[in-house]
Amino acid sequence: MPKLRIEPSGIEFEVPSGVTIMQAARDAGYFWPNQCDMQSRCSNCFFRVVEGLAALSPMGRAEQGTLLEQRGRKSLNEPVRLGCQVRIDADVLIHKIGVREDPFA
Ligand code: FES
Repeated sequence: MPKLRIEPSGIEFEVPSGVTIMQAARDAGYFWPNQCDMQSRCSNCFFRVVEGLAALSPMGRAEQGTLLEQRGRKSLNEPVRLGCQVRIDADVLIHKIGVREDPFA
């Protein structure tokens, strides 16, 4: 099962097939910053890919539209994606501030 590692926190967990990385984080007991509960509207779940870009699922229209609207056209040319939309099929390293143990999980 592919692993997601998050810097600078050093958090690491496995991501099952067909599950978004944000859902996998929740299932592993972590809070992932967001305001729309994984509806691809707020873009607060965005992250930057450090290694493993090819392992990410393709960007869909909802994700593309939200990044464009919330983060500007420049974001579409950067290794920036939405945690609530991305699945992975190999190990990936990302940079994301704010992911932490969820005391309510
Ligand atoms: S959780 Fe809001 S866009 Fe991903």
